[in-house]
Amino acid sequence: MIFETHAHYDDEAFDEDREELLSSLPEKGIGTVINVCADVKSLDAVRELIDKYPYVYGAAGIHPDHAGDLNEEIFEKLRQLCRHPKVVAVGEIGLDYYWHRDPESHALQMEWFQRQMELAREEGLPFIIHSREAAADTLEAVKRLRGGEIGGVIHCFSYSRELAEEYLKMGLYLGIGGVVTFKNARRLKEAVAEAPLEQLLLETDSPYLAPEPNRGKRNSSLNLPYVAEEIARLKGVTPEEVIAVTEENARRLFRKIRA
Ligand code: NI
Repeated sequence: MIFETHAHYDDEAFDEDREELLSSLPEKGIGTVINVCADVKSLDAVRELIDKYPYVYGAAGIHPDHAGDLNEEIFEKLRQLCRHPKVVAVGEIGLDYYWHRDPESHALQMEWFQRQMELAREEGLPFIIHSREAAADTLEAVKRLRGGEIGGVIHCFSYSRELAEEYLKMGLYLGIGGVVTFKNARRLKEAVAEAPLEQLLLETDSPYLAPEPNRGKRNSSLNLPYVAEEIARLKGVTPEEVIAVTEENARRLFRKIRA
């Protein structure tokens, strides 16, 4: 069954029909979901979701957009959440220079990115990285912090084939979502065509980034078959194979799910 590695079902975009939607996922072929924390309030929201739905797991972390909200107290809360039996990763963490162009903000993001990478290492969990317009700094940090040893995924991978190669060499995974279906995503399509299927993961980033033909609408895991179809086309395999292999990949990376 489809393994959704990145969704934000605690987002207010799902306030109207969260229960109905999440309950319907298994009968529609979505076997497992990782609900990823973004901000401080999602630390509580994620705990609620994973306690309620047996097939929903969590990732605990603070997105770089919210690095300014981090302090020692929140960091400790994050550490406690990592020890929940259904929290399987630290994320999403990383660098986002798209919305934040000032050097002070970059330094603050880097500080908390590093702290959370170290947390992943200490807690024995893989990481989920968000990197936007911060290609060089992200790669530098992942290498310096020996990310290959920790294990993890570059979520919503959107950089070049060359950069993909750097992460793949370290044994890391690329998270592939709706963007791969966009007509103008030539660079990403190339990277996906080249990467081993064994290092790709399916993800949506719901409620964002819905694939064609639903581009611009609210996204949900129900759109993942469109992503699997496009990856299959690019790699010359069947969508069923993409779904099966990416599920195995996710179970290998998020190893706490088996335990
Ligand atoms: Ni996300």
